[in-house]
Amino acid sequence: ISKHLLAATEAAASLDALEVVRVEALGKQGRVTQLLKTLGGMSPEERLANGPAIHALREAVTAAIAARKAHLEQVALDAQLASEALDMTLPVDAVAPGTIHPVSQVMDEMAEIFADLGFAVATGPEIEDDWHNFSALNIPETHPARAMQDTFYLEPKAKAAGDGQGPSSDGGGFAADADRAKPEPPMVLRTHTSPVQIRTMLAQKPPIRIIAPGRVYRSDWDATHTPMFHQIEGLVIDKGITLGHLKWTLETFLKAFFERDDIVLRLRPSYFPFTEPSAEVDVGWTMVDGRKRLGGSEGWMELLGSGMVHPRVIAACGLDPAEWQGFAFGVGVDRLAMLKYGMDDLRPFFEADVRWLKHHGFSA
Ligand code: PHE
Repeated sequence: ISKHLLAATEAAASLDALEVVRVEALGKQGRVTQLLKTLGGMSPEERLANGPAIHALREAVTAAIAARKAHLEQVALDAQLASEALDMTLPVDAVAPGTIHPVSQVMDEMAEIFADLGFAVATGPEIEDDWHNFSALNIPETHPARAMQDTFYLEPKAKAAGDGQGPSSDGGGFAADADRAKPEPPMVLRTHTSPVQIRTMLAQKPPIRIIAPGRVYRSDWDATHTPMFHQIEGLVIDKGITLGHLKWTLETFLKAFFERDDIVLRLRPSYFPFTEPSAEVDVGWTMVDGRKRLGGSEGWMELLGSGMVHPRVIAACGLDPAEWQGFAFGVGVDRLAMLKYGMDDLRPFFEADVRWLKHHGFSA
């Protein structure tokens, strides 16, 4: 029996076959089990004579089956590993890594510089209501300044009576009860980041020091104008703020941004309805090897709009203009990116042509 069972164990080619052998030997009806049972019917002498051999048989068979089982499991595992192995020598399709778009990169850089100057980042919606984009900024409905910005209007909402929706209910105070009957003006794609001035002044108590980077929209298309472009708004509201603070802030920013210490600024009187006085900020350039480069003051290039926040804007946000003053500016990010990277056409920035981005070193 011993020989037969040990041989059968060795011969079992699979775990299933081994289980059949185990049941045949050690199962309830198994041959070894049957032998063990015969011990009960034996006389003490017979038991003494046969017992050790039967117990030894059971142990030998049990051990042989356990050893065979371990061996078969190892073989199965090896086979599984072999079949699931990766072939590390197979060639892989090359996937070019994505990169940050140059305009995003420039915005991040600008935000970092302003963060060092103590400015937090504020945001607002790109679909804006008339009150935040125009009225609160001292651009009333009939004001010719609305024509300065070629606005994209959205289809007017059908107005459900008393739905409490729209600019009149979100803190803007657009419609007094008396003009509820008037249709609400359509929503717009914001034409500048200045509405974020309003949203910030309504949401925070001064002192305020924020920049607001984001997309803005105007109906315009040529080499230096795209219908979507990017601005960064700056707003400071505090006590005793002057144009001097504005000029120092912009100078410090531009020196850091263009990495030149010889940046010179010139403030030129200008007009914006939401600032008084208003100033166009020009940056000086110098001819070097037949090319204009920033720095020095041989000539001037218009850079951004700015001014002292108009008292009416401060009052529209529920602050007392006698107590709080401030400055604001709005700068075209794409324009600054063009200057920094020496480009003369803005449109490629937004054409998503990877070859162009690569050629300019903007993509891997
Ligand atoms: N919002 C103005 C524009 O888009 C720029 C500006 C911002 C001017 C803040 C003055 C103050 O042209």
